[in-house]
Amino acid sequence: MKYQITFWMLVVAAVILLAGIAIMAGSIQTLLKSKSFQDKKKKNGGDALKTVAVLLMGLLFSGSAFAGGTPEQENPIFEPEMSDIIGMVIVDVLLLFIFIYFQKVFNNLAQELLPAKALKERSPWFKLNKVLTDAVDLEDEETVMMDHEYDGIRELDNNLPPWWKWGFYFTIGFAVVYLLNYHVFQYGDLQYEAYQKDMKIAEEQKQAYLATLSLSVDETNVTQLTDPAEVSKGKSIFKANCAICHGDNAQGNTGPNLTDEHWIYGNDIVNVFKTVKYGTSNGMKAWGDDDLLPNEIQQVASYVMSLHGTFAPGGLPPLGEKRESVTPVTE
Ligand code: HEC
Repeated sequence: MKYQITFWMLVVAAVILLAGIAIMAGSIQTLLKSKSFQDKKKKNGGDALKTVAVLLMGLLFSGSAFAGGTPEQENPIFEPEMSDIIGMVIVDVLLLFIFIYFQKVFNNLAQELLPAKALKERSPWFKLNKVLTDAVDLEDEETVMMDHEYDGIRELDNNLPPWWKWGFYFTIGFAVVYLLNYHVFQYGDLQYEAYQKDMKIAEEQKQAYLATLSLSVDETNVTQLTDPAEVSKGKSIFKANCAICHGDNAQGNTGPNLTDEHWIYGNDIVNVFKTVKYGTSNGMKAWGDDDLLPNEIQQVASYVMSLHGTFAPGGLPPLGEKRESVTPVTE
């Protein structure tokens, strides 16, 4: 898998080289068929025949390289090994040499056969430059020279460079697609909606993260919640589960008064959390087994701690040790 990209890049390079070789071979063929070459051949038969023989060999070789290059592409689940990479590198280097050789042959032939200007016009660089810039040759500049002259500075009237025009057309096309996408069909989200969506996703991720955090609450990391929203959640949990034994206002019933300043099992959040989670042997069940989630225990324990010293009316007499206050919140 890890060689996949490298391998296919090498294959692509090989294909490009093969295409280059094929183009070169085609050009050489055209040169060989040209009249001037036929004339030369008559004068200088031996050399030309040799060249043709070499060329034909080259063509055959490139043909077989083509045939060898393709089967690998046909198998989509091919898993290249290091050896395949090395093989491909060798193929690429060979092809590169063939390409360079062909180019040399072509140049030699062309130099013999073609006038300098025609030769220049055949060079790929010249063609590329022509296609991209459409600039008039230095020698022909007179044809596009404008009439005016300022302090000896004269102006040419070249065509706009095609590369620039393509860019311009592209921006027009892009604008149309953009307009249709965002404003007409409204497939895409405008900045504000994209922002809103991202914020929503971020909020969900944050909630999910907080949920995992609160689910991982235990006696080693529990803190007392003071956020009123959390404490009021704790209050509803208390009403639903604990009021039956501890009284609606936690003043005590079969379970002890939780609003006085006396605690049997300690008054810091870790102790209260543990009492609720694991229960006691004396009538308090373990709420952490199936009934409450860790964060719910944290909430209800925080609510219970917020009741310290509130002395609900009708409270049962104190049990356990007197504590002045609950131990401060540990964050
Ligand atoms: C079935 C009755 C019952 C229910 C329901 C109950 N408790 Fe208790 N609870 C008790 C009893 C009995 C004790 C005293 C246990 C002891 O002395 O070992 C107690 C003790 C406690 C203590 C320890 C008090 C101290 O002084 O250390 C806390 C805190 C507590 N309960 C909180 C809760 C919470 C919170 C809930 C609801 C999730 C709850 N209890 C539900 C019966 C109950």
